[in-house]
Amino acid sequence: MKREIIITDDGSTTIHLPDLDEQYHSKHGAIQEAYHVFIKTGLEYFLKQLQPKPLKILEIGFGTGLNAFITLLEADKNKVPISFTGVEAYPISSSEIEKLNYPLQLNSPDEYFKKLHKSEWEKQINISTHFSFLKRKQFFLEINDINNFHLIYFDAFGARVQPELWTEHIFKKMYIALKKGGVLVTYSAKGSVRRAMQAVGFVVERLPGPPGKREMLRASKI
Ligand SMILES: C[S@@+](CC[C@H](N)C(=O)[O-])C[C@H]1O[C@@H](n2cnc3c(N)ncnc32)[C@H](O)[C@@H]1O
Repeated sequence: MKREIIITDDGSTTIHLPDLDEQYHSKHGAIQEAYHVFIKTGLEYFLKQLQPKPLKILEIGFGTGLNAFITLLEADKNKVPISFTGVEAYPISSSEIEKLNYPLQLNSPDEYFKKLHKSEWEKQINISTHFSFLKRKQFFLEINDINNFHLIYFDAFGARVQPELWTEHIFKKMYIALKKGGVLVTYSAKGSVRRAMQAVGFVVERLPGPPGKREMLRASKI
């Protein structure tokens, strides 16, 4: 499928899929969205309640590596050990990686960003002092982890383009993959998504969304 690199409103890049009219991040600001949805509403919220060592995160859709990179920067800044697993079935190419401006926009050397992309699939490695990383080349529907993660970044393409990824079937998998007390965050605020989450046992909150989006969802396994 055709992929184009575009610049979003906060100056950070993302990937646009012209055939689907879909992006990897919000056009209103890729970095802003990542910080709001996954760091502030997910990581920071979780750490206020529990500080497991390490904190285990599963990302549904490693994609450009932006969420993983920002999480690494947070782990090092706050000296919080994080073990991060990114699942992705359609990795981006080296020429696309070269065009992403995240290290520049985040004022960070690009060494760690490159390491995330260059790391071998299915091999856990330490990328920085506080950040251990595993990239799994896998379809989301093949995920069968049990009681393994504290936090899930649910960042699949929208329900408009991939409705099969926003169903009770997939959220049941996410529920099982989380430990008790675990939390899932996503940019979506659709009613059908919230109801699918509730149907499998999640307690769901509707929270203010990132720029350009009124609401988002946070689901907890209580
Ligand atoms: C919204 S993007 C993820 C953005 C990513 N979190 C980031 O920071 O760049 C969704 C990702 O899911 C991947 N994907 C789509 N369908 C998939 C599937 N069935 N199984 C695994 N990965 C899939 C796409 O290739 C894409 O990288």
